[in-house]
Amino acid sequence: MKAVILAGGSGTRLYPTTKLINKHFLPIYNKPMIYYPISLVMLLKIRDIVFVINPEDEPMFLKLFEVLQRLGLNVSYVFQEKPNGLAEGLILTEDFIKDSNVMYLLGDNLLYGHNVWKELDQAKREVEEGKTGAYTFGYYVKDPHRFGIVEFDEKGRVISIEEKPKHPKSHFAVIGIYFFDKKVVEFAKRVKPSERGELEITSVLQEYINIGELKVKTLGRGFAWFDAGTYDSFLEASHFVSTIENKTGLMIGCLEEIAYRNGWISKEELLELAKPLSKTDYGRYLIKLVEEEHAL
Ligand code: TTP
Repeated sequence: MKAVILAGGSGTRLYPTTKLINKHFLPIYNKPMIYYPISLVMLLKIRDIVFVINPEDEPMFLKLFEVLQRLGLNVSYVFQEKPNGLAEGLILTEDFIKDSNVMYLLGDNLLYGHNVWKELDQAKREVEEGKTGAYTFGYYVKDPHRFGIVEFDEKGRVISIEEKPKHPKSHFAVIGIYFFDKKVVEFAKRVKPSERGELEITSVLQEYINIGELKVKTLGRGFAWFDAGTYDSFLEASHFVSTIENKTGLMIGCLEEIAYRNGWISKEELLELAKPLSKTDYGRYLIKLVEEEHAL
């Protein structure tokens, strides 16, 4: 399986900051926002990632890609000339996806919880084994009017997904992590722009609903999901990461750690990467990983 991470967009809800800098480089607590979705891809041991980016952000992304290449990832990228919607990323990356299955993630989403990788791995396997064409997750939210909301039948099958519904049919929001089989590019190409002029990911999901091939697994209470697109959700996510990390001493979304545990980089390489970070807790954490082999 390959992964596509959407890191374009306009970030209008984070103006004026995102007039100056692409939001995916803003820190959520102690690391750039984009590290969090990348960490999920790495936890699934997927090494091929393509990023969808805005042309003007290329210089900063090239710096990120250098970091990722040193961690053993194969990175490529495509330009999205305008933020034409989440589904457009699937069309733009057609040559990369070719005939493979794809993990598709929004660059501003953070998902955390006990054994989260097991949930994601299950989704990956079900798509790879052809048990379903598409797989995503539903997260219970207090304010369903703000999200894409799933309607289930009594057997838990998906009936519909409605964007920002006036009369929500459930409290389960679709999160920004999807697994698709190779039909997805054809489906994305069929999508017509919505009223707001975007190619909506909901329309792609609808294609899968039409053929009875969308699975939405609801996540239990033990998970935290943030869509860090507004200043409040940004701050909330930062507080969350800081609280967990400072309580446990274990990091969320630490890419070097995952690469090391996956066996993609050696002890020596990890220490080399830690050196320039030695003034930070992040750098000291990396060094401790080598010293304390028994850590979780
Ligand atoms: P959104 O938060 O829906 O859009 P945005 O980032 O442009 O922000 P705003 O609503 O404040 O204007 O985007 C979700 C994620 O998808 C985010 O990581 C950016 C990315 N994205 C693209 O890569 N291309 C697009 O065309 C859009 C709309 C979003």
